[in-house]
Amino acid sequence: MKILPYEPDNTSLAYSVGTTLDRFIKLKQSEFPFASGELSQLLRDIALAAKIVNRETNRAGLANIGGAFGQTNVQGEEQQKLDVIANIRFMRALSKGGEVCAIVSEEEDSVIDLQNNSGKYVVAIDPLDGSSNIDVNISIGTIFSIYRRKTPQGSPITEEDVMQPGRDQVAAGYVLYGSSTMLVYTTGHGVNGFTYETSLGEFFLSHPSIKAPDNGKIYSINEGLQNQWNEGIKDYIDECKRRDYAARYIGSLVADFHRNLLKGGIYLYPATHKNPEGKLRLLYEANALAFIADQAGALATNGKESILDLQPTALHQRTPLFIGSSKMVREFEQIAKDKKVLV
Ligand code: AHG
Ligand code: MN
Ligand code: MN
Repeated sequence: MKILPYEPDNTSLAYSVGTTLDRFIKLKQSEFPFASGELSQLLRDIALAAKIVNRETNRAGLANIGGAFGQTNVQGEEQQKLDVIANIRFMRALSKGGEVCAIVSEEEDSVIDLQNNSGKYVVAIDPLDGSSNIDVNISIGTIFSIYRRKTPQGSPITEEDVMQPGRDQVAAGYVLYGSSTMLVYTTGHGVNGFTYETSLGEFFLSHPSIKAPDNGKIYSINEGLQNQWNEGIKDYIDECKRRDYAARYIGSLVADFHRNLLKGGIYLYPATHKNPEGKLRLLYEANALAFIADQAGALATNGKESILDLQPTALHQRTPLFIGSSKMVREFEQIAKDKKVLV
């Protein structure tokens, strides 16, 4: 039997796996030349709301058993569907912190003006992504984008603050409520992933500096809609099949994106007859994931141009989305372009 003396690892512990999210955010704050700590606080607010939604998610099955908990929960709130609950949780967290002036949420028809003109940031959020998977215990998520307002602090918010292209995001991320709960985010200096340790109530750095494989063998698309695709999409998927790629489609964008980000792959949600503009929303789904993809060395396009370059024209605007490993996205564009009927 070999016995070794313990040698403490003194090398750059600050960034090693196991660092808490709080500590990591603090350490990274110095990367923003003019940061006064508000973005850091905003990220902490989001993490707190994510913990609460995680808790709700974990008991979703129980809470739904024949209304066993009646119409109200322990806080005396109406028993609501998880996407509505998640919206309330994130709205509360974002409004209380004081850093945010306006919120765009999938669950709200209009921009929510927090009446906090001193807030520096605008947040776009899909509080609960993959809601069709809630009741069947399959991974779901939250997606968020953070923008710095364009108008000066202290003035009322305007459309200009809200309708910013993805390229202008200062931070973006997602939470994946899966076999473990993860928070993955970027502030434009790489992508880092944190895994939630339930017993400690903390997110710990588990996936530092995520880099997407530049190629992969997974394609993710709702193939049931094949008859609604144009020829370009069909050709590309046929090619994936010829190459014996694996088809993987969860139906929760966050989960499908996360898997492909780590393993290599492409996610496609094209225009269909039912959704001629595509199904996914630019402001609070596509943009955040496109920013993360970009920071991880992957690509995101609507088939014609980079998602990050699209100028939003409507709050709940939809877009076709093709996102994933750079070689796959480029190849997809090439095959689809030859048909000249891409989107
Ligand atoms: P949401 O639950 O926020 O409305 O988003 C659902 C989205 C996305 O998560 C998923 O990738 C896609 O809808 C699945 O759509 P199909 O069921 O049409 O495949
Ligand atoms: Mn969604
Ligand atoms: Mn949603």
